[in-house]
Amino acid sequence: MSISPTLGVCYYPEHWPEEWWDKDAARMAEVGIKYVRIGEFAWSRLEPTPGDLQLDWMIRAMDVLGKHGLKVVVGTPTATPPRWMVDKHPDMLAVDARGQRKGFGSRRHYDFSHLPYREESARITQILADALSDHPALGGWQTDNEYGCHGTTYSYSPAALEGFRKWLADRYGSIEALNQAWGNVFWSMEYNSFDQIDLPNLLVCEPNPIHDLDFRRYSSDQVSAFNKVQYDILKAKRPDLPVIHNFMSRYTEFDHYDLAETLDVASWDSYPIGHLAVSDETEDMKRQYMRQGDPDNAAFHHDLYRTVGHGRWWVMEQQPGPVNWAKFNPDPLPGMARLWAWEAFAHGAEVVSYFRWRQAPFAQEQMHAGLLRPDSEPAPAYGEASQVAEELKLTGLDGPVGKARVALVFDYDSEWAWEVQPQAQGFKHGAHVRDIYAAFRKHGVDIDILSPKTKSFAGYDIVAIPALFAWTEELREAVAAFEGHLLIGPRSGSKTKNFSIPARLGPDLSPNLLDARVMRVDSIPAHVSVTVKGGGSTRLWREKVETRGEVVMEDNEGVPVLISQGKLFYLTASGDRALMQRIADYLIAEADLPILSLPAGVRARSRGGFRIYVNYSASGATLSPAADESGYVIGGTEVPAAGVTVAKLAKAG
Ligand code: GAL
Repeated sequence: MSISPTLGVCYYPEHWPEEWWDKDAARMAEVGIKYVRIGEFAWSRLEPTPGDLQLDWMIRAMDVLGKHGLKVVVGTPTATPPRWMVDKHPDMLAVDARGQRKGFGSRRHYDFSHLPYREESARITQILADALSDHPALGGWQTDNEYGCHGTTYSYSPAALEGFRKWLADRYGSIEALNQAWGNVFWSMEYNSFDQIDLPNLLVCEPNPIHDLDFRRYSSDQVSAFNKVQYDILKAKRPDLPVIHNFMSRYTEFDHYDLAETLDVASWDSYPIGHLAVSDETEDMKRQYMRQGDPDNAAFHHDLYRTVGHGRWWVMEQQPGPVNWAKFNPDPLPGMARLWAWEAFAHGAEVVSYFRWRQAPFAQEQMHAGLLRPDSEPAPAYGEASQVAEELKLTGLDGPVGKARVALVFDYDSEWAWEVQPQAQGFKHGAHVRDIYAAFRKHGVDIDILSPKTKSFAGYDIVAIPALFAWTEELREAVAAFEGHLLIGPRSGSKTKNFSIPARLGPDLSPNLLDARVMRVDSIPAHVSVTVKGGGSTRLWREKVETRGEVVMEDNEGVPVLISQGKLFYLTASGDRALMQRIADYLIAEADLPILSLPAGVRARSRGGFRIYVNYSASGATLSPAADESGYVIGGTEVPAAGVTVAKLAKAG
């Protein structure tokens, strides 16, 4: 059962004197907060020495929070095993690609392949489930914290090696089958048994790409398996409560769709300013949105995690002010903590939970803002959060987001494959997807993200499949039956699942769907670009295609860039933003899709009977009211910098 939009906060009772808890909880309730996440790093206080369980304080904290009407999400503390655990299992520490063991003293110091640690994680999860499941304040669980953060998905340990060999034996059945599938005759890489296969690190030069890709698939499966253990324990006790995990921005080292097979709700941690600062966006963009964040990045992840979470998702951690982990950590524009929350709700979030209640004056994150300053006085986001809570009541925003008319396929295998073998340095599946996403969003078009296991595109007007590594059976089926406009991006279907070139060269679709074959690839450095007639440029990746399709766009050298056969379009190159915008505009016109006219920096999303406008720019903007709107419930046509306007739709969307 989904939850009506509401606020949450991350709280660490173990950081503060117990006498403070009651006042803290009262103030949370006053702000309008309903959910409090606790516990995800508290193992050393729950079990200070092996077997010495101290759960009373946590129960008392839940009592206090519950007394003020707050619901508690308890995090399993497995991202921070205590020091004694490392003494007990020294080999639980992960090993980096250079063969060095990582140490204790920060967090996420464990190896997903280490089965005794997986048992320890099951043990503490069972202890929490037994002790807390019947607590009246319990509202859900969070498994671990940010799986894979700080580069922890991969480990090159003996445990990983053993697990990888077993995984390969299960996948391929015989060593002959593996040799065949991997193409190991090349460079005499053939094996006589699975026991001879090593991890793809510390080699003389690059590993066979399928060796690397399979190691990534194996590592991804370990993260899912780790999560499943906790999920099964938590669900067995309280099937009615949601099990949630908090994912990240632009983080793709494991397959989130797979992992979410054992989650009820997806959530993610949204730090728009920090994420832009550490991203590969241009310096111009970083300067322009330094105090706001990339106007499309949070939205993209909201849409992604809505799909990952089977329609249910939260923001588990919302940036409240300056963070501590980028090179520079600017103060957000006044209003951004409100804007980010509104934008998340517009995309269907159930809960937006600020990180954190009070800034901690000690340890690694002492410079990271909270809703309260370290002296317990309100920080700017405190008032902004209260405002959001009031506004939610005022508007009554609720219900699921409707199906969008445009969809994009996002695929983790493709993320890995093009990292393993980019061919053009800087060619990234994710960047390509996000560029297309941003181009549609400029026009206020709502977008859904689809997994590669989507069997049907029915109901969409436009679907884009950007830079897909290998076709899945499901996607082939969906493509063949689709009657709308379909954009297939460069490189799509250019490989088999086993990282080889298919017998029918890419894009590897039947000729009656698309009569095109990639004959040659031209990979060019990022600073060189080729102009496309009519505007925009191609960069990094160009294909020379043999086709009987219609050439819709070509570059100045006469090379086809966009070709079509009926409503199916194939893009032969990666383009700059201007080219991607032209292509989106072209498809929108072809599909006759309604659009909004949005000032620069303004974005919009509809939910229920409302359209929510957010102004990411550092100056005010004027909206042109759309024909389907019947007035405003918050704000109006003049939207200040970091402002929000909520329009009422004449007909619920
Ligand atoms: C997240 C993490 C939190 C905290 C926060 C700081 O990645 O889940 O524990 O470290 O970042 O921004």
